[in-house]
Amino acid sequence: MLGVGGYTAASFLSSLLRVFPPHPLRLGAHELPGRLFVAPMAGVTDRPFRMLCKRLGAGYAVSEMVTSKRELWNTLKTSRRADHTGESAPIAVQIAGVDPIEMAEAARYNIDRGAQIIDINMGCPAKKVCNVWAGSALMQNEPLAMQIVEAVVAACAPLNVPVTLKMRTGWCQAERNALRLARAAESAGIAMLTVHGRTREQGYKGQAEYDTIAAVKAALNIPVVANGDIDSPAKAAAVLRHTGADALMIGRAAQGRPWIFQEIDHELRTGMALPPPRVAQVRQWLLEHLVDHYGLYGEFIGVRTARKHIGWALKGVEGARPFVDRLNTVESCEAQHAALDRWLQDLEQRQSWWPTSANDEHIQLRA
Ligand SMILES: Cc1cc2nc3c(=O)[nH]c(=O)nc-3n(C[C@H](O)[C@H](O)[C@H](O)COP(=O)(O)O)c2cc1C
Repeated sequence: MLGVGGYTAASFLSSLLRVFPPHPLRLGAHELPGRLFVAPMAGVTDRPFRMLCKRLGAGYAVSEMVTSKRELWNTLKTSRRADHTGESAPIAVQIAGVDPIEMAEAARYNIDRGAQIIDINMGCPAKKVCNVWAGSALMQNEPLAMQIVEAVVAACAPLNVPVTLKMRTGWCQAERNALRLARAAESAGIAMLTVHGRTREQGYKGQAEYDTIAAVKAALNIPVVANGDIDSPAKAAAVLRHTGADALMIGRAAQGRPWIFQEIDHELRTGMALPPPRVAQVRQWLLEHLVDHYGLYGEFIGVRTARKHIGWALKGVEGARPFVDRLNTVESCEAQHAALDRWLQDLEQRQSWWPTSANDEHIQLRA
């Protein structure tokens, strides 16, 4: 088990011996350009951020979850979530809900609007979702979970749309039923399975465990994706080695640092660390992302929701804190964009390379 203890240079080197298979991963008719995925994160992985991650090395991205509640489909929030303008294929949409018929309808609705892959959410621990038995709460009710899987697969199969599933290791420590559910889901026609190495009870606390993911991978024939706490190339290599997963999914570590995909990809392929990006390069990525972000959300929401992306990106950069605090009071997209541009140009005068984060210096994985 990956738990506490030391992480040595020797184990790091041996972890590098485990790399992804050379052939691309296929999902139905789709060939994925890479095996590093960006995790669906509500409020984060909107279309602009997914496109940025894909540009910087993510081979696949799933949308933020879309509710199966028909009455909410026409809300601005859901229609923004269903916006895939300009996004590279395959377009994968995650749906969340508790009713098999509604979930099947939601799948068809999203396919009509461009979804090429449907992902079922059985991983989200959010109260809003779980109180109505959706998300990871479904893992506690296996018969219902399987009815949903079967209904969604039946809706998607005639349209040649693969259905994937994202789950946790179980409901609680004593009920880690991921393996049983995974086997049933595979038999029901699921095309790929992602496992986040935590139980619902854990939320995001504690450390992800990878033994359950390894057991699921060993038992299934479909591709299995490992997820949870992957925040550096070394950790990615070790999780890959431990689980034998077909792909890795990265969530929080990509916030403010979407180039983590190319860093991991480079190091897994070559065994060499990629140097950090230049400040000038990050300035370009961030400013382009902001423009795309404003385009999706408009002035009022755009300037506000952009603040978290700026805050994440500048976290840990020397002298950034007072600037970020000031920037949080700016109310126009133009002023926000211009201020960030100026601040990053000043940073560029002081240093050429983007500062390495705590993750780069401290390998967090313990063998
Ligand atoms: C802000 C936030 C929003 C999330 N939203 C979703 C979601 O909509 N659907 C989902 O399946 N998982 C969601 N997750 C879980 C992530 O996809 C991922 O499983 C989890 O963050 C563990 O991966 P990480 O350690 O790399 O962040 C969310 C996580 C975060 C932090």
